[in-house]
Amino acid sequence: MKKLVIANWKMNGQPAMAEALTRATAAQAAGFTQAGVVICPPAPLLMQVGQWLAGTPVKLGGQDCHTRGEGAYTGDISAELLKNVGCDYVIVGHSERRAAYSESDVLVQAKASRAILSGLTPVICIGETIKEREAGRTQTVVGQQVRDSIPDNAMTTGGQPANFVLAYEPVWAIGSGKTPTVDDIRQMHQYIVSVASERTGHAPEAIMVLYGGSVKAANARAIMATPAVSGVLVGGASLKAEEFCGIIAAV
Ligand code: PGA
Repeated sequence: MKKLVIANWKMNGQPAMAEALTRATAAQAAGFTQAGVVICPPAPLLMQVGQWLAGTPVKLGGQDCHTRGEGAYTGDISAELLKNVGCDYVIVGHSERRAAYSESDVLVQAKASRAILSGLTPVICIGETIKEREAGRTQTVVGQQVRDSIPDNAMTTGGQPANFVLAYEPVWAIGSGKTPTVDDIRQMHQYIVSVASERTGHAPEAIMVLYGGSVKAANARAIMATPAVSGVLVGGASLKAEEFCGIIAAV
């Protein structure tokens, strides 16, 4: 399966910087077939970034969506609208949202379900905190997140490709410069694939699990070459054209 490299700009990127970054990413990805590249800019920039990406292989994604299609939800964004302004993906359940807005697995599952209904591929984020890791609870916590965050409409009766992507992002690795060892990453990804396969009925080979947390050009090659790693979700390093292009090149 083609690997996936996703840029999560988070709440960063003023228009001038966004244009430079988008154009640099598109130039790096031009003619590139080894991996899919996706940019998830802040919502007000989606249409503009989509225009800059027109005619390039780079896809567009949102950073979050609501569980409903429309309605009186001030400040929220529907998956339908994301789809209609050109998105193919949406990140749901990022640890920053789970922590800052108390997003539960139940809510994340509802968001992912809505994303699928709207024709988007949800990128469902999971990962343990440092406290959970130090208590030896990593697999228990992450396994539970996987089972409870994947929606029923991600299940299969056989054959079709998976309509969701998982992203394993240890909370302590995000923005910290720290990463698990590649052996740790391999073990966790294999575990996540087995739990997700059991939950959805998809064959293990059909399930994509991205790694996220302090990915940069210097470590991308080793991480991407790790068994059961289907790509990367990149925060900080996706804001620097040279770094992000280096990550794409590492595929
Ligand atoms: P980071 O963030 O690459 O800055 O660690 C990753 C993420 O939060 O998705």
